[in-house]
Amino acid sequence: MVEELSFLRYLAAKQAVDDRSLNAYVWDALGRTMADHSGRLKILEIGAGSGAMIERLLKRGHLRRADYTAVDVWGEGLNAIPDRLKQWAEDHGWSWRQVHKGIELLPPDAAPDEGLAVTMVVANALDYARHPLIRGRYDLLIAHAVLDLLDLPTALPILLRVLKPGGFCYFSLNFDGVTSFLPILDRSLDDLIEHLYHRTMDERLIDGKPSGDHRAGRHLLALLRTLRVDLLAVGGSDWIVHAVDGRYRGDEAYFLRHILHFVESSLRDHSDLPPDEFANWLRHRHDQIDRGELIYIAHQVDLLGKICE
Ligand SMILES: C[S@@+](CC[C@H](N)C(=O)[O-])C[C@H]1O[C@@H](n2cnc3c(N)ncnc32)[C@H](O)[C@@H]1O
Repeated sequence: MVEELSFLRYLAAKQAVDDRSLNAYVWDALGRTMADHSGRLKILEIGAGSGAMIERLLKRGHLRRADYTAVDVWGEGLNAIPDRLKQWAEDHGWSWRQVHKGIELLPPDAAPDEGLAVTMVVANALDYARHPLIRGRYDLLIAHAVLDLLDLPTALPILLRVLKPGGFCYFSLNFDGVTSFLPILDRSLDDLIEHLYHRTMDERLIDGKPSGDHRAGRHLLALLRTLRVDLLAVGGSDWIVHAVDGRYRGDEAYFLRHILHFVESSLRDHSDLPPDEFANWLRHRHDQIDRGELIYIAHQVDLLGKICE
């Protein structure tokens, strides 16, 4: 179906979808929290991918005085961060210099304590967070479109340890149990595919360990309370992707094809899904993209939390 798949291109296409989906109430609460911080903010982002969140925060003016550590298991994504930030700096009159394992950006007329230092670390987020030197080191922990890939009861206590007492966590685009493709093709087949697709998330094992939750959003809310995290702001951040005047915006047709690829690769050869019917379903969904007809909805949850002191 999709000839050449590029995860980098998928993330680039996803950036615009995310921008309009992020919950504005939670995002504003994050912005106020960052603005109220005195001194340099120490930020850890796990599953940082190719750095879209760093650029998003820069655009909103939240990173004038920050040390930002971007952790991901995927080195190719992290390697794209310096070029992305150089481009941003050049477009906005900031200066930059590449440093060992990262890049530093300075705003024009920077005060002595101003500037953004970004360090990239290729690591499993849990291994990184477990390191004794990392304990209690950060003011803000960010995880965007990643926590639904982890086993939350195991991962959260480890990840939250990186925060200082009173530190904040911003967890955005946490998938929460709805994947809808419209218009309906065949209600029972649509429902079966959604159900089986979600089950693959729950049953996914990475290195033999559980790695996912198709209701991560709601489970996070309940779990954080047991981990002494106050929920300061919570809201929905659903992806709703549709064509406008018959055309998808930006690279969103590609984004949709990639989503279908996730479904296809998760359910290929699934014993509960007749292969011909599934192949036919996928073909119809791709045809709907060609015609600008496919509407895709994923329910997601954003939150800002604060560790009780
Ligand atoms: C859906 S992508 C989101 C990337 C980025 N946050 C964005 O939205 O553009 C999920 C990212 O999490 C990373 N990831 C998944 N599990 C991880 C883990 N245990 N430790 C670190 N990174 C992880 C993947 O490599 C991938 O880059």
